[in-house]
Amino acid sequence: MKLIILIVFIFIIAVQSAELPSISTKRVQRNCSFSVRQHRCPPLARLAKVVTAGSVQLLNELSGTFWIGLIYIGTPPQKFYVDFDTGSSDLWVSAPSCGKACGGTNHYYSNKSTTYRPVGVPFEIHYGDGSYAKGKFDNDTCTVGGKAVKGQLFAEATSGSGLENYTRDGLLGLAYPLESSGETPLFFNMYKQGLIPQPIFGFYFHPYRHHIKFTQNGKLTVGGVDTTKYIAPITYAPVILKGYWEFSMNSVSVSNTKVCSSGCYAIADTGTTLIVGPPSQVNKLNALIGGIYIAAYDTFFVDCSRKLSSFPNVTFTISNQRFVITPLQYIRIFGDNNTYLCTTAFQGADDRDSSKRPIWILGDYFLVRFYSIYDIGKNRVGFAKSVSYSFLQTVPSSLFKG
Ligand SMILES: *[C@@H]1O[C@H](CO)[C@@H](O)[C@H](O)[C@H]1NC(C)=O
Ligand SMILES: *[C@@H]1O[C@H](CO)[C@@H](O)[C@H](O)[C@H]1NC(C)=O
Ligand SMILES: *[C@@H]1O[C@H](CO)[C@@H](O)[C@H](O)[C@H]1NC(C)=O
Ligand SMILES: *[C@@H]1O[C@H](CO)[C@@H](O)[C@H](O)[C@H]1NC(C)=O
Ligand SMILES: *[C@@H]1O[C@H](CO)[C@@H](O)[C@H](O)[C@H]1NC(C)=O
Ligand SMILES: *[C@@H]1O[C@H](CO)[C@@H](O)[C@H](O)[C@H]1NC(C)=O
Repeated sequence: MKLIILIVFIFIIAVQSAELPSISTKRVQRNCSFSVRQHRCPPLARLAKVVTAGSVQLLNELSGTFWIGLIYIGTPPQKFYVDFDTGSSDLWVSAPSCGKACGGTNHYYSNKSTTYRPVGVPFEIHYGDGSYAKGKFDNDTCTVGGKAVKGQLFAEATSGSGLENYTRDGLLGLAYPLESSGETPLFFNMYKQGLIPQPIFGFYFHPYRHHIKFTQNGKLTVGGVDTTKYIAPITYAPVILKGYWEFSMNSVSVSNTKVCSSGCYAIADTGTTLIVGPPSQVNKLNALIGGIYIAAYDTFFVDCSRKLSSFPNVTFTISNQRFVITPLQYIRIFGDNNTYLCTTAFQGADDRDSSKRPIWILGDYFLVRFYSIYDIGKNRVGFAKSVSYSFLQTVPSSLFKG
C-alpha cells in the first residue's frame, strides 16, 4: 500500500515538473525493464514528447465537387491548397513556371526555402479525368495538420493540362506507395518520423450546401479519427491489394436486386466525386432506378417530377454490414427557376486495379454519408455512419410531385 502511494506521489511530481520548461529528460528516459511497476513507464516516457493527432479543415470547392485544405512546404512555410486524394500516391504542387495551367494561385519557390534539396528526377501523373501534371521531384519539409514531415519527396509541376479551372494548387496522394517508384508517400513518413500516435487517418465530409461555397465543411484527421463526426460501430474491411485503398464488397443492390453479387471489389477514393462502377453493373443499377443514359453528358438522368417514394434505395454491403444510400442522397439536382434537371450519382467506367480486376470507386457521394478511416498499420479501411448521414439537400418545392 505504502509503495503504491509513494509511486503515485512521484508520478504527480513528475507530471507537475513536466509542465515546467526544463523537464528532466534523464528521469523520463529511465530504464523501465527492471521497474517494479512497469506500467508507470509508458505514461512518464510520453511526457517528454506528447504526440497527438492533427487535423486539416477542408473547404468545398466548385459546387461540392471536391474538398481542399491547406498544407505548407518549405522553411519558412509556403502555403498551398491541395485536394487530399486517397486514390493516388504522389504529392505535387504548382511551380511558378506552370503559371495558371496547373490550377490555383500559389506556387512553390524552391529558392525561398532553406530546407529545399534538389532531386531532379522527372515527374508525371495522369488522372482518370484525362488531366495530367508534369515536372520534377524536390525534397523539402511538408507540413500537414501541424505535422512537419522532414525530407519529403514531392513534385513541383512545371506544366499541366485540364487543371486550369481548379482552385487547388496541387494534390496530396494518400494511397499506398507505388511499387515502381520507391518513393515514400507523405503519410507513411509522418508515421515513421513519430509525428502521430497511430498510423491512421480519417475523413469527414459534410454534404455540399447549395450556393454556399468555401464553407469549412470537411475535416481530415491525421494520426487518429474524429469521434464526434460518426456514429459507431465502425465496420472494417481488409485491404486486399495495396495500391488503392481496395477491399471486397459482398454485394451492391437496388432494393432487393443485386447488381453485383460476387467478385465485387471497391476502392475508397476521396479524389472522385461520384460513385463509379463497372459499366454493365452500373447500367443495370441505373435502369432499376429509372435512369436514362445520355451519351453527350455521359450521365444518367432521372425524371424530377417522379414521386420520391418511387425511387429505391441503393445498398453497398461491406463486411456483411449494409451501407444504404437513399434517393435524396444519390439524386443530383441542377438548374434554376423551375427548369431543373436531375441525374444520378452513379457512373459507369471500366476502372481496374493492378491485377486487372474491375473495381467500384466509392467517391464523395458515398464518403459524405460514411466517415472513412484508413489504417496503414492494420491495412484496413473502416466506415461508420457520418453524423451528416441524414442531412439532405434542399429540394425545390416543384420537384418530385408526380
Ligand atoms: C536496462 O537495464 C538492464 C539492467 O541493467 C540492462 O540489461 C538493459 O540493457 C537496460 N535497457 C536499456 C534499454 O537501457
Ligand atoms: C526564385 O525563383 C523564381 C522563379 O523561378 C524567380 O523568378 C526568381 O527570380 C528567383 N529568385 C532569386 C532570388 O533567385
Ligand atoms: C531529403 O534530403 C535530406 C537531407 O539531405 C536527406 O536526409 C533525405 O534522405 C532526403 N529525402 C529523400 C526522400 O530523398
Ligand atoms: C475552363 O473554363 C473555360 C471557360 O469556362 C472552358 O472553356 C474550358 O474548357 C475549361 N477547361 C477545362 C479543362 O474544363
Ligand atoms: C431506405 O433507407 C432508409 C435509410 O436507411 C430507410 O429509412 C428507408 O426505410 C429505406 N427505404 C426503403 C424503401 O427500404
Ligand atoms: C431566375 O430568375 C431571376 C429573377 O427573375 C433572374 O434574375 C435570373 O436571371 C433567372 N435565372 C435563370 C438561370 O434563368
